[in-house]
Amino acid sequence: MSTVTFRVFRGDRNGGELKDYTIEVQEGMVVLDAIHQIQAEQAPDLACRWNCKAGKCGSCGAEVNGKPTLMCMTRLDTLDTSKPVTVRPMKTFPVIRDLATDVKWNYEANKKIKPFTPAPNTDWIMFQEDVDRVQEFRKCIECFLCQNVCHVLREHDEKTGFIGPRLLVRTASLEMHPLDVENRLDMLKNEGGIGYCNITKCCTEVCPEHIHITDNAIIPLKERVVDEYYDPILGFFRRLFGS
Ligand code: SF4
Ligand code: F3S
Ligand code: FES
Repeated sequence: MSTVTFRVFRGDRNGGELKDYTIEVQEGMVVLDAIHQIQAEQAPDLACRWNCKAGKCGSCGAEVNGKPTLMCMTRLDTLDTSKPVTVRPMKTFPVIRDLATDVKWNYEANKKIKPFTPAPNTDWIMFQEDVDRVQEFRKCIECFLCQNVCHVLREHDEKTGFIGPRLLVRTASLEMHPLDVENRLDMLKNEGGIGYCNITKCCTEVCPEHIHITDNAIIPLKERVVDEYYDPILGFFRRLFGS
């Protein structure tokens, strides 16, 4: 058993400050355990969101020592506990209180994506390799850590022009679905703002499900948009036939 100090944000959307809590920790603890222990012993009003404690519900995202991560999957023995461990809420979304942020913007932006649309009278037969391709995207737990770290969303308060990596992953899961016949390229080019992504790959680095967000979702979608709207030969025929 040893003693560790946690420097935790306390406040709301009007402001706040970091407060120190020193607790005794035990082998095997994760940051979420420490937050629960602080709630139990020193600050029963400390707000944080969590559900599964297994890295599957996506609720407990926070910035631990400045790195966006799931608190329930961040073991204390991976951190330098000789210094205070800083725990802040996700920076890109408004704070509700303490470590809980308001992520409803993501659900609003999600409405821009047309739902799964199979062809009429589809026979529902799929090749395994096509299933495997979209399966990666279905692992998303909607933790929004990728949205939190993407500089395009982080630096624009209104966030109106770009749906962000999580929603590009969702769009990829639909666009690459072997039975889907809907076309979402216009949405991607315009209100989805895929052109704003300059492939920094910060989103991929923080994804707890290790989804290859940039390489497997965003870049193939960018290629489809370029083929559709900027290919000179396709553009010529589009102008010729007025489509
Ligand atoms: Fe979280 Fe990864 Fe899904 Fe983004 S893509 S919301 S980081 S699980
Ligand atoms: Fe943002 Fe990821 Fe693109 S961090 S800029 S969506 S590669
Ligand atoms: Fe569910 Fe952390 S509590 S992902």
